[in-house]
Amino acid sequence: MRRILVTGGAGFIGSNFVRFWIDHHPEDRITNLDQLTYAGNVENLKAVESSPHYKFVRGDICDSELVRRLFHAEEVDTVVHFAAESHVDRSILAPDDFIRTNVHGTYTLLETARVYWLAARFLHVSTDEVYGSLGPEDPAFNEAAPYRPNSPYSASKAAADHLMRAYHHTYGLPAIITNCSNNYGPYQFPEKLVPLTIRQAIKGESIPVYGVGANIRDWIYVEDHCSGLEAVLERGKVGETYNIGGGNQWRNIDLVETICDLLDEKLGAGTSSRRSLIRFVQDRPGHDLRYAMDISKITRELGWRPRETLATGIAKTVSWYLEHQEWVERVITGGYRDYFETQYGSRLGRG
Ligand code: NAD
Ligand code: TYD
Repeated sequence: MRRILVTGGAGFIGSNFVRFWIDHHPEDRITNLDQLTYAGNVENLKAVESSPHYKFVRGDICDSELVRRLFHAEEVDTVVHFAAESHVDRSILAPDDFIRTNVHGTYTLLETARVYWLAARFLHVSTDEVYGSLGPEDPAFNEAAPYRPNSPYSASKAAADHLMRAYHHTYGLPAIITNCSNNYGPYQFPEKLVPLTIRQAIKGESIPVYGVGANIRDWIYVEDHCSGLEAVLERGKVGETYNIGGGNQWRNIDLVETICDLLDEKLGAGTSSRRSLIRFVQDRPGHDLRYAMDISKITRELGWRPRETLATGIAKTVSWYLEHQEWVERVITGGYRDYFETQYGSRLGRG
């Protein structure tokens, strides 16, 4: 039985991971430490909140005293570290929280784990963006690609990756890093391209595409990412890095048009296709042209590969957002915070 500390488990990937893990490993115990920033939503975890093997703790990963207490009280043997500021556009507007949470927060967890002497694994969930940008013909990033982060977000994740490496090399901490490509799927905050496009297209409102929409991302369905993390936790080698990717390289404009077409099919197009909502807007500063992951290492060594193509994954995702429009509106208006108060407020002595 593992005793896992998940950080950032109320966010998009973290909440998918917690549900996935409890489904597949009901004997393990999960403590979910999340500060509940704008991106964290405990409603995402309704399905598991009554499980005796699951516990939610609201708190900051930079709070070393809290982190230390949790390691001891929960007898943590495994850390799966998702907590981060994750949106590139926000990092361009205000990098401060990115450095605090992504760098100092990771350092606080590592330092606690070092002193406590973590038994099993410390998995840092990182990103392909640390490798920088590819040209149209360049081979995909493998694990030996040099680090060339271009945004405050990717630079802060790169710094955290370097700390992971140093804590393994210097102190023998059982660190593993995964670098994953762009995720999409249920429960993604509607500031990111896929859920933003779906919401705008459902509502018949403008869909902003940066530049001419020629940037390429390697899209992975979130459940495939979770199964990749499972493979690494179960069979990965400590001290190693594993790239995880979806094998679906798409230009933004093609992805946005596909979503418009799917919604036209499902809801009817009326007089004009939802493609007419697309607006090309001023580009993001320093916008990376292309990301793509070479996943041959994790496939060869751990036998993992993604299951979904973009066509199958995006169809599931569009259906989910259509069925969960209320969730989207509660997230946009901040209404989900009321749920936290109802569910946890009195237990925390506030109501
Ligand atoms: P998200 O923004 O949806 O969720 C982040 C979570 O971290 C939120 O629940 C938030 O409340 C929590 N958090 C933020 N600061 C905190 C702090 N100081 N203390 C405790 N909790 C805090 O992010 P996501 O898209 O689910 O990404 C999760 C991880 O995966 C991140 O580390 C990100 O860098 C990485 N990643 C994301 C993608 C992607 O496409 N979304 C791809 C590769 C890697
Ligand atoms: P995003 O979902 O922010 O992920 P990342 O920047 O981490 O790759 O953006 C995915 C791509 O979509 C990226 O090339 C930027 C682009 N994009 C738009 O064209 N319009 C938008 O409104 C957003 C949020 C992103």
